[in-house]
Amino acid sequence: MGERGDADGAAAAGLCGFAAAGKLGTVALRRFEPGDVAAVHRWFNNERATRTLVVQRKSFSTKQAEDWVRRAIRGGEDRKYAILMDGRHEPVGFTALYGLRRESGPELGALIGDDVRSQGLGRRAEALALHKAFEEFGAARVYGEIPVFNDRAKRAVAKLGWRYEELLPNHGQRDGESFDCELWAVLRPDFYRAVADLDLD
Ligand SMILES: CC(C)(COP(=O)(O)OP(=O)(O)OC[C@H]1O[C@@H](n2cnc3c(N)ncnc32)[C@H](O)[C@@H]1OP(=O)(O)O)[C@@H](O)C(=O)NCCC(=O)NCCS
Repeated sequence: MGERGDADGAAAAGLCGFAAAGKLGTVALRRFEPGDVAAVHRWFNNERATRTLVVQRKSFSTKQAEDWVRRAIRGGEDRKYAILMDGRHEPVGFTALYGLRRESGPELGALIGDDVRSQGLGRRAEALALHKAFEEFGAARVYGEIPVFNDRAKRAVAKLGWRYEELLPNHGQRDGESFDCELWAVLRPDFYRAVADLDLD
């Protein structure tokens, strides 16, 4: 779970601004726009945010941010959504559904790139993306690969009805050292049972 390569493909349909209201205020997802380059550049240069990703880039230039946003706008078989929260002019991170045409269902990715983590935002933004996976894209299952040390990511998905499936030994690499990941996944009915407290529409 986290950042993945982009798949090429047809232009994405226009989107989306749907929201979940709660004590955080309104959290909403929208498709990426050309004006999001500065925010994307900031997130991927925030070491506090990126250190728990499966893939952590050593550096991330403005040019890379421009390319990333261009691919996100184009879409294809991946969908990336900017996360908006009350009181913030720019998006604070993104959530993604990778490989929407896969038989096994899409993979969820999430990065809260600004320092607003650990107040329920991740769970809420991921819930919005999962709702899209099940309702808009007809997925039966969504999965994620989470580094064993990423307790926050595991807790967020556990509260969205996800279950641990298996250990993926030596699945990630950082600074020449490998680390284990865990495969987690959720089925549609388990997700909707777990998010009965959230207003997703
Ligand atoms: C993973 C991520 C999306 C979760 O979003 P978040 O807004 O930080 O998490 P939430 O506030 O929704 O909290 C999720 C749970 O983790 C718990 N948590 C928060 N900080 C924690 C920490 N440092 N260690 C362990 N658990 C923690 C929360 O208490 C909450 O559990 P609870 O409701 O049972 O108390 C976000 O932290 C993030 O983007 N991290 C950096 C990138 C990343 O690791 N992405 C996932 C790659 S696998």
